[in-house]
Amino acid sequence: MTTPEKTSTVYVTRPLLPPLEDFIPYLQQIWDNKWLTNNGPFHQEFEQALCDYLGVRHISLFANGTLALVTALQSLRITGEVITTPYSFVATAHSLLWNGIRPVFVDVDPVTLNLDPERIEAAITPQTTAIMPVHCYGRPCDVARIQEIADNYGLKVIYDAAHAFGVQSQGESVLNHGDLSVLSFHATKVFNTFEGGAIVCQDAKTKRHIDHLKNFGFVNEVTVVASGINGKMSEINAAFGLLQLKGIDAALRQRRAIDARYRAGLAGVAGIDCLSDKADGARNYAYFPIMVGPDYPLARDALYQKLRDNGVHARRYFYPLISDFPMYRGMPSAAHANLPVARRAADRVICLPIYPGLADEEIDHVIGLVAGPGA
Ligand SMILES: Cc1ncc(COP(=O)(O)O)c(C=O)c1O
Repeated sequence: MTTPEKTSTVYVTRPLLPPLEDFIPYLQQIWDNKWLTNNGPFHQEFEQALCDYLGVRHISLFANGTLALVTALQSLRITGEVITTPYSFVATAHSLLWNGIRPVFVDVDPVTLNLDPERIEAAITPQTTAIMPVHCYGRPCDVARIQEIADNYGLKVIYDAAHAFGVQSQGESVLNHGDLSVLSFHATKVFNTFEGGAIVCQDAKTKRHIDHLKNFGFVNEVTVVASGINGKMSEINAAFGLLQLKGIDAALRQRRAIDARYRAGLAGVAGIDCLSDKADGARNYAYFPIMVGPDYPLARDALYQKLRDNGVHARRYFYPLISDFPMYRGMPSAAHANLPVARRAADRVICLPIYPGLADEEIDHVIGLVAGPGA
């Protein structure tokens, strides 16, 4: 009996990992000084290194992006209703529910798939206290228009910037917009610390407050100023982040090259739209979303299955919409008629594999499957 030929699987992403031996000296240092968490030397160094790399003023590291989102809302004492997008990962809206805040879903822009600023005002009520947009796929929101609306109505802006590591717009980090921006360093992200996250803020006082909140509210040994949480990043994750920073530029260059190869290979395939982006600064090529339109010979899910049958694990990010999950779908703003653009995107999108180390032959294999005969 012969064993069937094993076909290798191509995943939508693979984590960026440096050579293991490069991490050993960092571990040795932690073992030597026995400072495992609570703002240790690697934590302090990593915060500064990230500020320098990203071009932002203040960063507070977290154990993950979700705790950072929850704490960001706490730090600004956000209550009532917050306007947000249904086209994101569930953590965006979950962070609101965990704070007892009602998410109000507003539809997205058909080109950027980010919160449509022109629909925000109609969703504002006396209970609205903030806007929580997402830089979806790392493509910047219309930050100027969102800020204008926020200023007019006295609202805070908290960006879920989980996808936006290293992204720039008009010559500066997109993280410098809004009151706070929240990053995720989850394993699947462009830049990972296994698990991790951060809040970017604009002044030292806000950072201090956030630092207290992520450490149970402790200001010193005997003073607790708020009902804080344990959101701290450990020394292992911070040390790993420092090492990861050394490889991030090369990783971003590789992602850019993969993005270009897909675009060239899929240009002209009827019914496939590779979402263009009017880049006005650095991008991170975190995802490669395509929209499967009515002119394509297969429905989106049939293409998804075809890719899977051929060893390509693409993902339908973001499907289902957040507003379709049980804890949200009864809300008036979750009504289908309120979110037609987001719904169409959720029904059509597939994110193709993109990560440093993805070989040209693998990219061409994916292109061949999408563009191939009868598709
Ligand atoms: C848009 C968005 N927000 C929030 C999160 C949550 O981040 P974390 O997994 O670090 O908690 C993620 C990813 O996981 C995300 O993609």
